[in-house]
Amino acid sequence: MREIESDIKLQFPHLREQSSREIYFFNRALFDSYVDFIRSHKHFKSEVFIKPEEKKTVVRIVKKTTPSLKERGMSRKDVMQRAKKVENDEFYTRYEDVEKEVSMYPAEIWKDKCVFCNCDDAVGETRTEKDSSAFALYFIKNFIRLGLKKLICTHYSGQMDLFMAGAKGYVFTKKGVQEMTKTPRGYTGCFEDPISLEILHKEADIVCTNPPFSRARDYWRVVIESGKKFLVISNITNVVTHAFVSYFMNKQAWAGFNRVDWYLNPKREPVEAAGHWFTNLPIKDRPKAKLLKLVPLEEIPERFKKFDDNGVLCVDNCFIPNNYDKPFAVSAHPLLNGVLEKGFRITSAEHFFPYVDGKQKFRRILIQRL
Ligand SMILES: C[S@@+](CC[C@H](N)C(=O)[O-])C[C@H]1O[C@@H](n2cnc3c(N)ncnc32)[C@H](O)[C@@H]1O
Repeated sequence: MREIESDIKLQFPHLREQSSREIYFFNRALFDSYVDFIRSHKHFKSEVFIKPEEKKTVVRIVKKTTPSLKERGMSRKDVMQRAKKVENDEFYTRYEDVEKEVSMYPAEIWKDKCVFCNCDDAVGETRTEKDSSAFALYFIKNFIRLGLKKLICTHYSGQMDLFMAGAKGYVFTKKGVQEMTKTPRGYTGCFEDPISLEILHKEADIVCTNPPFSRARDYWRVVIESGKKFLVISNITNVVTHAFVSYFMNKQAWAGFNRVDWYLNPKREPVEAAGHWFTNLPIKDRPKAKLLKLVPLEEIPERFKKFDDNGVLCVDNCFIPNNYDKPFAVSAHPLLNGVLEKGFRITSAEHFFPYVDGKQKFRRILIQRL
């Protein structure tokens, strides 16, 4: 157990909370990779499922004070899902992370463009991180330098309201700022609200935000279907997750420059979670491409190449065989480091689980030399 525990710590350093030194799971996809890792460990024996004991029904007569879940039309599952959603979504982006990524793109791409920040990007009176989102602050501060035509920021009125702004939106132009005028009663600030969709389709040129993790699938679908340029933060595992792989395969999205490991929670405390920038803005000369090791198969050290039970080659540590013509399996890192820009393509929109000696290994993606 001790060996497995220490291997897990080595494998998932980014999932650990520094203060308590505990493994920190922030969502289902990462939890799944952790379980995959344990299953594929050499000391793994078997998986045991524990059936919870059936609870006896105890009838008690209590004075009724609050409406039951049934009366509120909710199930226990609804409550759990709501709690999970709130917990997962309230990761606020730090100003320095927005600045670090946006400054990687040539300033001309923003010129005369309308930027739309559509997921809880509040603009408060103090215009500081106390009441405004880092996205709003960055684009307001750099409005003139980037030559923006317009900045539209909408705020989502969810269960948690870090910015205490209510559902509203602000429109910035060279002439000044105004609150969205046509905001009808009942506007929630949701990215799928008809008003938000109208802005997306009719006004926005570039969408830039950190959308809710729990709604990432819907968010990506809405933005990619709109055909607009985007630069967003999402879960680092999206590149190897079935729901998103086809976007990378069809060149509708690719990794941005940086990963994003630190956020602020609603109490303004730093919290760690594994995010990455994703975009469809052109990227030239990706600095991380130099982390890829494109070498002939024979030069890949044995410990970083394996054939699975079906004869599929799996490579690790960013080694990429440049003389191998069949599809082979890679983890998220080569994809985030730009392997698809180096003459390789994704061959299947399904993610791939290799089996070695009958044991399932990490989730990967199959790629092939063009
Ligand atoms: C990861 S946080 C990022 C907030 C802000 N964009 C930032 O970067 O600091 C995602 C935010 O989206 C909000 N949200 C949840 N559901 C939403 C929806 N349907 N439409 C828009 N925003 C939503 C959440 O309340 C949460 O504040």
